[in-house]
Amino acid sequence: MCTALASKPSFSTIHTAHASTPGDAPGVLRTVTERRFTAMDPPLSQQPTLLALSLLLLALYLARHALLGKRRNYPPVAGTMLHQLFNFGRLAEYQTELSQRYRTFRMLTPTCNYVYTVEPANVEYILRTNFANYGKGTMTHDVLEDLLGDGIFNVDGAMWRHQRKVASFEFSTRVLREYSSGVFRDHGRRARGHRGRRRRRRGEGGHARSVHAVDAGLDLFTIGFGVNLGGLSQSSQESAAFARAFDDANEQVLYRFFDPLWKAKRLLNVSSEAAMKRSVRTINDFVYAVIDKKVEQMGRDEHEFAKKEDILSRFLLEREKDPGCFDNKYLRDIILNFVIAGRDTSAGTLSWFLYVLCSNQRIQDKIAREVREATSGDRDVGVQELTACLTEDAISNMPYLHAALTETLRLYPAVPIDVKYCFSDDTLPDGHAVRKGDMVNYQPYPMGRMKFLWGDDAEEFRPDRWLDGDGVFVPESPYKFTAFQAGPRICLGKEFAYRQMKIFAAVLLCLYRFEMWERDSMMGYRPMLTLKMDGPLRVRVSPRRASG
Ligand code: HEM
Repeated sequence: MCTALASKPSFSTIHTAHASTPGDAPGVLRTVTERRFTAMDPPLSQQPTLLALSLLLLALYLARHALLGKRRNYPPVAGTMLHQLFNFGRLAEYQTELSQRYRTFRMLTPTCNYVYTVEPANVEYILRTNFANYGKGTMTHDVLEDLLGDGIFNVDGAMWRHQRKVASFEFSTRVLREYSSGVFRDHGRRARGHRGRRRRRRGEGGHARSVHAVDAGLDLFTIGFGVNLGGLSQSSQESAAFARAFDDANEQVLYRFFDPLWKAKRLLNVSSEAAMKRSVRTINDFVYAVIDKKVEQMGRDEHEFAKKEDILSRFLLEREKDPGCFDNKYLRDIILNFVIAGRDTSAGTLSWFLYVLCSNQRIQDKIAREVREATSGDRDVGVQELTACLTEDAISNMPYLHAALTETLRLYPAVPIDVKYCFSDDTLPDGHAVRKGDMVNYQPYPMGRMKFLWGDDAEEFRPDRWLDGDGVFVPESPYKFTAFQAGPRICLGKEFAYRQMKIFAAVLLCLYRFEMWERDSMMGYRPMLTLKMDGPLRVRVSPRRASG
């Protein structure tokens, strides 16, 4: 049976993809790049224009340099933002190539420098040591405002502290853990039930299974907000439209970072910005419906509602305590930020995880064995019994699965490149100077592929690199393995995400074996803020037995 994971229709480019070929060593990822032009490709990407504009930027830079004199040691110039526009469809790959040449470098833009680094000492400095000097800033806020508004990902200072505090409370309670696992397991069982019914309706025999990554996305949304996305909307079409609009808007905001004309386009409501406006309208309609439904629930039985532990309910109760502290727009922003936090990270990581495991059957079998040993022993069990066996102890007794998920995040970090605004002139630990207004980026995707950080096999998918001789998981410095960020703004949902990904992966791999539907097919990513697989991942699913 052919199964579509992450069934997102692509309107964009065909991106860099990775796969093993028969000649490669096991687990080695091969990189292939192919590109076709689309409506989103800028006219600037035609070579002569690019060259002319690049030369102009270089001339401006040299003139400024001559006027100010070379007093400080700025990072080497690796290109301009036009090169990034030109490479937009393969941005993470392009940044990796540049990072292989320079650990810290600059890309010129008309207004500021875009500084990029893969140097752990710099990353620690930006994210922790001099945290106060690197934040979201006005430029990032402007670019992301239509999508993320004043949500936690897009604010600094008091607003950030307030949202972090309310949400931290959620993540710190044992109740949330129990609640979220319950929701997750219920949904897993329900989803499996639907699939079984669908198969029976179609009169299919045998044991092939179909699984959709979107199931994972819905689970995480449900956990975050206590509202079943599918059940809430009038139709599954609305859910699908929301998901599509969200992904399109996510891609467009990344594009804005490199398009100096985006504000003018927005004003004139033309080109990609007209599409952005439509996406935002769809998103808003959907999210306001979620809020209305929650408010209605709260109105029906406030006492019962007060017991709810999901994040949206938590924020609504905060508003009850202090009316006027935030309006529906602010709630909308908070929701959207948690959608991007939960849906686009864990669900996306699980898609990459299954993808790499399809090319690594030996690793897949090893995980399945570990899950079985930690849960049912030698017996073949059904999903009900298996989920019942997934206790706290069992989940924490799966170091190889933990390592395989971490290894997936090293090579496919959900946030591939992360930008911080520099508030005042500074010098990074590697001696490179940065200026007030520069956009300083640490780069999880390129960092995961740097030989100087991970050794010659940096591009190999090898979970064992995370385990010591006794098979115990050994974490790396968060300034080297940066998938969850680090410092005061470290991902709030890290532990939670591991937990949910482990439950999901354990159930899938213990019960089923996955292979690519087309043996050598390769998956790329969409150029978005998050590393989302581009197009459906078609897999062949067969039941797994204790002996196999
Ligand atoms: C594989 C899963 C995940 C990865 C790789 C991941 C990664 C990240 C990264 C890189 C950031 C920093 C973003 C920035 O400020 O620029 C972040 C922040 C955050 N994450 Fe996650 N995340 C994951 C799952 C989750 C989940 C499931 C939740 C909650 C439902 C969550 C909640 C948050 C929140 C609230 C922040 C903002 C923290 C702050 O600014 O103080 N994350 N995450």
